[in-house]
Amino acid sequence: MTETIHAAPTGVEGSIDRADYERQYRASVEDSDAYWRDQAQAIDWITPFRQVQDTSFNEADFRIRWFADGELNVSVNCVDRHLATRGDQVAIVWEGDEPGETRSITYRELHRDVCRFANVLKDLGAKKGDRITLYLPMIAEAAAAMLACTRIGAIHSIVFGGFSPDSLANRIQDCDSRIVITADEGCRGGKRIPLKANVDKALAQCPSVEHVLVIRRTGGDVAFTEGRDIWLHDALQGVSDDCAPEPMNAEDPLFILYTSGSTGKPKGVLHTTGGYLVWVTKTFRDVFDYRDGEVYWCTADIGWVTGHSYVVYGPLANGATTVMFDGVPNYPDHARLWETIDRLGVNILYTAPTAIRALMREGKDWVTKYSRRSLRLLGTVGEPINPEAWDWYHRVVGDGRCPVVDTWWQTETGGMLIAPLPYATDLKPGSATKPLPGVQPQLVDTEGKVLEGATEGNLVIADSWPGQMRTVWGDHDRFFQTYFSTYPGKYFTGDGCRRDADGYYWITGRVDDVINVSGHRMGTAEVESALVAHAKVAEAAVVGMPHEVKGQGIYAYVTLNAGEEPSEELRTELRQWVRQEIGPIASPDALQFAPGLPKTRSGKIMRRILRKIAENDVGNLGDTSTLADPAVVNTLVAERVR
Ligand code: WT7
Repeated sequence: MTETIHAAPTGVEGSIDRADYERQYRASVEDSDAYWRDQAQAIDWITPFRQVQDTSFNEADFRIRWFADGELNVSVNCVDRHLATRGDQVAIVWEGDEPGETRSITYRELHRDVCRFANVLKDLGAKKGDRITLYLPMIAEAAAAMLACTRIGAIHSIVFGGFSPDSLANRIQDCDSRIVITADEGCRGGKRIPLKANVDKALAQCPSVEHVLVIRRTGGDVAFTEGRDIWLHDALQGVSDDCAPEPMNAEDPLFILYTSGSTGKPKGVLHTTGGYLVWVTKTFRDVFDYRDGEVYWCTADIGWVTGHSYVVYGPLANGATTVMFDGVPNYPDHARLWETIDRLGVNILYTAPTAIRALMREGKDWVTKYSRRSLRLLGTVGEPINPEAWDWYHRVVGDGRCPVVDTWWQTETGGMLIAPLPYATDLKPGSATKPLPGVQPQLVDTEGKVLEGATEGNLVIADSWPGQMRTVWGDHDRFFQTYFSTYPGKYFTGDGCRRDADGYYWITGRVDDVINVSGHRMGTAEVESALVAHAKVAEAAVVGMPHEVKGQGIYAYVTLNAGEEPSEELRTELRQWVRQEIGPIASPDALQFAPGLPKTRSGKIMRRILRKIAENDVGNLGDTSTLADPAVVNTLVAERVR
């Protein structure tokens, strides 16, 4: 199943073919300024830039700036500029949790919604540079809220609706938001998510917040705090349909998005205006080979970067029709995606391997019940896709006629970096294939030596690209230390990778203490600190374990305080505790009570051993002689969770 699958015939009108790709790639490396000056014309500038790339990954003159003397506005690029040619075209198709609960919003309607929303924010005192936290379901108003922020130059920080009140509070505090936008409740798989109630809990710890703007989604009962909370529909009364866009410098912040790293505290990844928009505009158009009038559906939530770049900004900047899905793939049944594709006439589907694996398990009859005739292209993102799932996606979902684009990227990269161009790149199931123009991947060994040819190593990027993150909010030093100090002069991705003899890249997974659960990044340290915050827990160590559907699951080793007894009830309680502390995605899949953890004499936990036990690979645990107490390993092996 690892054979090469040839791309669709070249010469597809408007598409990039192999020769174009090679030409573009060469141009992007040989004269990056000329290449990006040209590519950046795909978006509208208020003040044209003269500078292009101004970057250095070296400590002495570390800086990342693109198009730094240009000015633009993102909402104008995503909405206003399409009005003349496609004002009546649908911009957003909203598909609710219940099938057929659908709403279409044209570009003209979106323009009005965005302007009015922006005026509401202004009435609340929001201005350029302010941070606004969004804690929302996948409703069309969420896109309007994002674009409204960009219209007035406010920086949005979206917190995934599945995060707990505590996680939300930490993210609000970190960036000092004065305004929070939320909804009464969310709906997911027939269940209600108490978003407003969660905000109320979070705000007990957030004195910076002055206003909570609440969108009515379900009409469920919510508490209101006088003077602080306001319904969006009330605030919109009498508001003007016009709002002049704020001219933003290309390097002005666009949004903050928190992501887990190898420490307990999530990092506020900051993206700026010009480079990010150029990157998502170009990668959306090229990788999906988007054609006018097509219906595009990315199933990601706007709480993750995929939702930012490829539900909202990339598609809208290209004048596409983008589907916003407020449900889940297995509700009301396992045919939801295919039924919706037929009903909405979806041409391009972009989803995660975990969803594909979950649906694959249910059998192909759910899929073949529907025609899927409209589908032209399939995409995946978020984690390595196993060749079996790739093959099923290609053969069953796409009837063997739709190219599958496996796109590798990260919150930090803003958009895709390694991905096929569907009519230029031959596909290999399980490989994200080749770098996009402007991307210079390298594989290095642990000493930083660059490895050539077919090999395996740590994935770094040798030079900047416009969509790169610019800093960690409030901690520029952490930005440099995290990404540029391990291999001086290069951006370190945290991923391991293999390159084959054809120059194809195969991501093997994280090499740091981050695990990838259902395509969502989780820092092991975060789960550990949640566990040790429980009164009965003395110590915890968390590692990844293979999981059939999620890709990786969370395996937790927990040492209890003296006098506490392990029990099934406590196991359930601790899993529930983590859910409540961080959110359902962080809940351990396996939890083992460990009388002790394998530590070196200096007290460092040997995670290598814990990983092997979690993987049930106990035949060769390697050298355990340096452990302070080698006997603990035998106990852990004997009592491992399988
Ligand atoms: C990590 C980034 C990219 C948006 C969603 C996740 C893994 C992502 C792939 C892929 C293999 C992938 C990497 C990366 N990853 N896409 N196509 N093949 N691995 O964004 O939460 O920032 O996570 O996801 O390990 O470092 P994120």
